[in-house]
Amino acid sequence: MCGIIGYTGKNSALAPLIDGLRKLEYRGYDSAGIALPVEIGQPLYIEKRAGKLKNLEDVLINTPNSTSGIGHTRWATHGGPTDTNAHPHLDNEGKLAVIHNGIIENYVQLRAELEKRGHKFKSETDTESVVHLLSDARKEHNGDLAASMRSVCKQIKGSFTLLAMHSDAPAHIVGARRNSPLVVGIGKGENFLASDVAAFISHTKIALELGQDEVVEITPSSVVVTDLSGQIVNAKQYEISWDASAAERGGFSHFMLKEIYEQPKAIADTLIGRADGLNLNIKFKKFEKIVIIACGTAYNAGLVGKYAIEKWGQIPVDVELASEYRYREPSLNKKTLVIAISQSGETMDTLMALRYAKSKGATILSVCNTNGSTIGRESDSTLYTHAGPEIAVASTKAFATQLIAMYLIGLEIGKKLGHLNKNQVISINEQLTQLPAKVEQVLETVEPLRELTRKFKDAQSILFLGRHVGYPTALEGALKLKELAYMHAEGFAGGELKHGPIALIDKGTPVVAIMPTQDSVLAEKMASNIQEVRARGAVVIAISEFDFAGADHLIRIPNVDLLLQPILSVVPLQVLAYEMAVARGNDVDQPRNLAKSVTVE
Ligand code: M6R
Repeated sequence: MCGIIGYTGKNSALAPLIDGLRKLEYRGYDSAGIALPVEIGQPLYIEKRAGKLKNLEDVLINTPNSTSGIGHTRWATHGGPTDTNAHPHLDNEGKLAVIHNGIIENYVQLRAELEKRGHKFKSETDTESVVHLLSDARKEHNGDLAASMRSVCKQIKGSFTLLAMHSDAPAHIVGARRNSPLVVGIGKGENFLASDVAAFISHTKIALELGQDEVVEITPSSVVVTDLSGQIVNAKQYEISWDASAAERGGFSHFMLKEIYEQPKAIADTLIGRADGLNLNIKFKKFEKIVIIACGTAYNAGLVGKYAIEKWGQIPVDVELASEYRYREPSLNKKTLVIAISQSGETMDTLMALRYAKSKGATILSVCNTNGSTIGRESDSTLYTHAGPEIAVASTKAFATQLIAMYLIGLEIGKKLGHLNKNQVISINEQLTQLPAKVEQVLETVEPLRELTRKFKDAQSILFLGRHVGYPTALEGALKLKELAYMHAEGFAGGELKHGPIALIDKGTPVVAIMPTQDSVLAEKMASNIQEVRARGAVVIAISEFDFAGADHLIRIPNVDLLLQPILSVVPLQVLAYEMAVARGNDVDQPRNLAKSVTVE
């Protein structure tokens, strides 16, 4: 959570900072702020406002010219979303500014010690203790901000990306990271620091990856990375493959809509070059079980993965909420393969579960969308999805590609363990290849959903039913609706209804039912479950590959094997949630209270 950007160069810093913050707003939008050095040794210019970036932009009138600066967009953890708690935070002289992403776990104790030493705190944040610590450290290190940062990093606990600058050296920005992301953008006569490459991709495509507990100093012409002992680190440079336009809305009214429509391409890109195998460098034969760890939408993708891996790979799979996993001290060992799924590759719950599994000797395979992310780097092997940048907070194309990754892994295990013969492999590959065109077809037929959505926009609650892989799809449909429309929504396994949830059905309750394929034994069972809710007054919208007559409304999707159906059936659910959010006047790309990368536990 929280987006961070720093710029130092030859041009005015304001435009790259604001543009960068706009690209990072998906990481949090409780407040935004900037700090700019104006005169050497004088207090920094600082402006910060609670609420979205727009509130900050509105007050940036007659902003002094400066060729360096730092900017922050916040997802509040410690202290409410107020102007005072917004970053940057300043030392008592107003010359040193700090911005932060993460949580300083020992801030209460640090604050008490700092207050005893005479430091005056203005905010309720954990971050402010860092700026005061840095201020003291600068005195001990003769104004050397990088050395001060190294010493402060040794005193603070928790997760952080920090940027700091002091008006004594206005072109010099220092950053540090532990468990939270920070990338360096290397330009010509200008350099950047940011939480995500999207913040500077319109200026440079050359980036440097920073490791755990590393400190970086940038000026317009230099980048120096050190570890906490001050030793120079040769950070890995790479070229960003995304196009700058990928992080723009490109004519769509919202990023989410654009990303829904990008799914055919994202699926095709994720499949490219993988028909003959995955090159994972993992010996699947040695594993007795697989544990999938993930959060939110990625968890739902993992649930679908269980069906594919167990069917094709014939190996037991548990799917675990990453936030719960390590706390129940599960049994796992060298014979366990852990698959961590994370679009951002930075989700703290998933990262911590991964580290726990690693400490127990498990092998880690991750499925990530973001190159160079922490989860990818800390895994034994990573299968990258190629969804491109996903900016909307609600995950859509990332989910589609995570499903593809699950199918590819299931296929790979099935092949390697000898449970799939050559013809089966060819057939599955053929079906996967047809998916982009079939998703395209679904997108062409979702129009009726727009009208339906308006009809149900004031419903108290919407329920989603599915069986087999339709169950995780129902969970995903409900999650999308909750986060975007702020409506009560729940996903149920069709067969579970009669064990309790059917009591929720009242006259007019909308129920979205995902019909299994017609050839599956479950189609009839689901039809009965639909009858049960209709008999109690529910209005049923069925998503079906055949002309199912038992529903009030029917959304048709093309036929695919039941296992692959979520790729198609989730699309109308995404559109439904999108349209509902629009109809209810909600902020589609930045739903309330959320952030895209959840980098706190
Ligand atoms: O980056 P990750 O895939 O690890 O994120 C996990 C969840 O936070 C994420 O999928 C979240 O549930 C989405 N906002 C849902 O649309």
